[in-house]
Amino acid sequence: MHTSPVVPAGRSAPADLGALREAAFAALDRAYAPYSGFRVGAALWSDDGRVFAGCNVENASYAATLCAERAAVAAAVVAGAQGLSYLVVASEAHEASPPCGECRQVLSELAPDLQILSYTRGGAEARWMLSVLLPHPFSQQSLDRS
Ligand code: THU
Repeated sequence: MHTSPVVPAGRSAPADLGALREAAFAALDRAYAPYSGFRVGAALWSDDGRVFAGCNVENASYAATLCAERAAVAAAVVAGAQGLSYLVVASEAHEASPPCGECRQVLSELAPDLQILSYTRGGAEARWMLSVLLPHPFSQQSLDRS
């Protein structure tokens, strides 16, 4: 388990990690995962103290599946959230689950300094900085052609 700090230096109010965790597990309970049976919940914390949750939404056309983390990002964006600083992922796996590669890329667009905490029903947990999970994201700068 990584030991990066839970509260970043001076930038935002400390997250209510209990509330964030609760929201992630409540989202897990709403997951639509009839194909994989792998239910995931996610909850994002914005610097103004709001929580945005998402769950995975699978599809009979498997590739159309939406991950919990990207669902949470969409909820945050439509609500006008600024400064996403923490993400809690909740799963029922044996080990605490990190966001998949596609979700890392999407999270990096809006929350490059994100701290990620992952919990399982069974009590496993892990913590990562997004910048460690995805050190070289494709970014707006990557699109620069001049
Ligand atoms: N899943 C997520 O929701 N988040 C991830 O970061 C990894 C995978 C979902 C997608 C699919 O519904 C199920 O977990 C199995 O891959």
